[in-house]
Amino acid sequence: DSPELAAVVLSGTIDVHDFPKPGIVFKDLMPLFADGAAFKRVVDGIVEHYGPDSFDLVAGVEARGFLVAAAVGYATGAGVVPIRKAGKLPRKALSATYELEYGEATLEVHEDAFIAGQRVLVVDDVLATGGTAGAALELVERAGGTVAGFTVLMELAFLKGRERLSPRTVHALLTV
Ligand code: PRP
Repeated sequence: DSPELAAVVLSGTIDVHDFPKPGIVFKDLMPLFADGAAFKRVVDGIVEHYGPDSFDLVAGVEARGFLVAAAVGYATGAGVVPIRKAGKLPRKALSATYELEYGEATLEVHEDAFIAGQRVLVVDDVLATGGTAGAALELVERAGGTVAGFTVLMELAFLKGRERLSPRTVHALLTV
């Protein structure tokens, strides 16, 4: 893809050792979001990658995915749908549970979030094991949407999320 975009993502990321647990290196993209020029560049990069009229709506995964999704939804005029952690949505929702390293987690989306066949671009900040993304993509389809694409700012290749999501394709601005 674009080496320039990859460099923008990399320079906006801080590796935080032993967070949230000993042995884990947390990828903190908050500096990227806080840098106006860098944030604009990555959002524009996502929009350019998909081109005009390739999706109708953007879905973002709680919580950091919301930041990216809202920006892409605004930039394209597509609008945004939140895919939330369990128990947060006020109306009837569909749930998908996925495995974490220890235990499990559940994501939800309103059952009426999409019109049948609506093309949905799903975005998140980081792809790690792919559990979150797999649940999010499943929810979009179960709620009647069509997945138009899945984009992350950063992919952690050694955790093999891309393989877990196959045959779905992943667009990552930076792969480490
Ligand atoms: C992070 C990240 C992705 C997910 C990736 O979110 O923003 O959503 O983990 O991990 P996976 O590919 O192994 O599933 P987190 O669950 O930390 O939630 P947050 O954004 O609310 O902090």
